[in-house]
Amino acid sequence: MEVVGSVVGGNNAALVIREKKGAELELGELVVVESEAKKYIFMVSAMEFGTLLEEGRLLTSAGSMVEGTRPRIEFPEDDLRIFRKVRITPLVEISKVDGSYRAPRSMPHFLSPAKRASSEDFSFLKRPRNEIFLGKLRSGGSVLDFDYYMDGEQMLSHHTLIAAQTGRGKSNLVKVMLWEIMNHGKFGMLVLDVHNEYFGSGANKGLKNHPKADRNLVYYSKSPPPGQKKLKVSLKTIDPEDLLGILELSPAQEGALQLYRREFSHDWIKELMREDPQREKEYERKGVQGVTIRSLRRKLGNLFKIRCAMEGEEPCCEDDVFDLEGFGESTIKDIADALERGRVVIIDGSSISDDTGLVIMSAVMREVFRRYEGYKDEGTLQERVQVGVILEEAPRVLGELYGGNIFGRITREGRKFKIGLVAVTQMVSVIPDEILANIGTKIIMGNEMARERQRLIESSPQDLSQYEQVIAGLEKGESIVSSIFSKFPVPIYTPLFEEL
Ligand SMILES: Nc1ncnc2c1ncn2[C@@H]1O[C@H](COP(=O)(O)OP(=O)(O)OP(=O)(O)O)[C@@H](O)[C@H]1O
Ligand SMILES: [Mg+2]
Repeated sequence: MEVVGSVVGGNNAALVIREKKGAELELGELVVVESEAKKYIFMVSAMEFGTLLEEGRLLTSAGSMVEGTRPRIEFPEDDLRIFRKVRITPLVEISKVDGSYRAPRSMPHFLSPAKRASSEDFSFLKRPRNEIFLGKLRSGGSVLDFDYYMDGEQMLSHHTLIAAQTGRGKSNLVKVMLWEIMNHGKFGMLVLDVHNEYFGSGANKGLKNHPKADRNLVYYSKSPPPGQKKLKVSLKTIDPEDLLGILELSPAQEGALQLYRREFSHDWIKELMREDPQREKEYERKGVQGVTIRSLRRKLGNLFKIRCAMEGEEPCCEDDVFDLEGFGESTIKDIADALERGRVVIIDGSSISDDTGLVIMSAVMREVFRRYEGYKDEGTLQERVQVGVILEEAPRVLGELYGGNIFGRITREGRKFKIGLVAVTQMVSVIPDEILANIGTKIIMGNEMARERQRLIESSPQDLSQYEQVIAGLEKGESIVSSIFSKFPVPIYTPLFEEL
């Protein structure tokens, strides 16, 4: 292994090495320092120059070089008085005796040599049982030949956040993860694909090209390709809860929805859309104002494209996806069945509004939650498949309105029911603290916005305060995985899906 420097200072939070000339370490690179019993892996977190020359001499010499007066003789190439000091932050310490590892609690010796890390240095990492491939280990900009896996059950049950600014490879990572999940069919994953980029079309590689796609992939679309499912959902299977956080509702409006739900059971939307002056008068006496109902009609009418019915007429849904009657009545249940069987279910969200896509996701997850609560009560939850839902642009439904909706419920108590969330977002800063604190794994990709980086650093399971600069400089596909299940923040590179 190539020696790149020698430990000359620092403390337990970060050591300083004097860099060997020509080593040219970069931010984010990994270096290894060993003692008799332990091996430590560090990440380069800062660099600066060092010199032993007295300032006047230094300035005079630099001056004579730039002015070209006596250019060559001032600093010989191998002048040991000029060097670079590289700050390295400890990631992990590994026992040479039994290969066990932990977050660093000791330091290597003064003047120990530091070497460039290689894939062999990570042999202490064992493959987890229900593995999900996330990418290859990475030392700065170089990819190491070492596949990094996390345990899918841990990742999903305790939720995962994928955060990056636009174009840094979030969707690519999701595709790579789903491909891997389809290999073993052990997890049910629900995905609303707002850009229709996961399934693949024609010659474009997508999850449809997976060798087990026939068995492990289900695709719903408004206009499905041959052999795939047409997205049709009966509004009878939608509950007022599915609108929370999606429509902005006043407490009075929420109350009115609940009233209709109680009175008309699964026909609550249809009955709400029916203009019935007699009924409205009666409701006024119960404290539900006509204006509240009219406003709800407008909101629901816009959302599901329902035409209000005058007296004596039936309300009519003009949307191709929704139906007021029984058509599509089994869709929510069918999707929940597929998830329970460990399938990846993609809903093509590109041709429906974001809002209606989220309503459908909510209805499905509510059904899964209901079933899994039942399994827990009857004592069979252990045998069930772990289910996860991927939410893109998560702050929308995890934001301040999240309180009562199913996604908020999943983040707070899903882990008790084997239901988890993968939140994909550009804006972590607007996700409430309570939710961020409940997310066990954070995959941090490149972000130029200092505020977003700060928020990620503050809410990460490991102390990443030294890595601000490293995070700022992450390129496409590069990330740092910080998880309550790994003992150190792991730098990885997720390969391009098309090249898997
Ligand atoms: N690991 C990678 N290596 C090389 N190129 C990549 C990698 N990941 C993604 N890209 C490329 O970068 C572009 C953006 O990737 P992607 O769509 O995954 O980003 P994103 O973070 O999801 O962006 P958005 O926020 O806009 O959804 C794509 O063209 C993709 O091909
Ligand atoms: Mg994307």
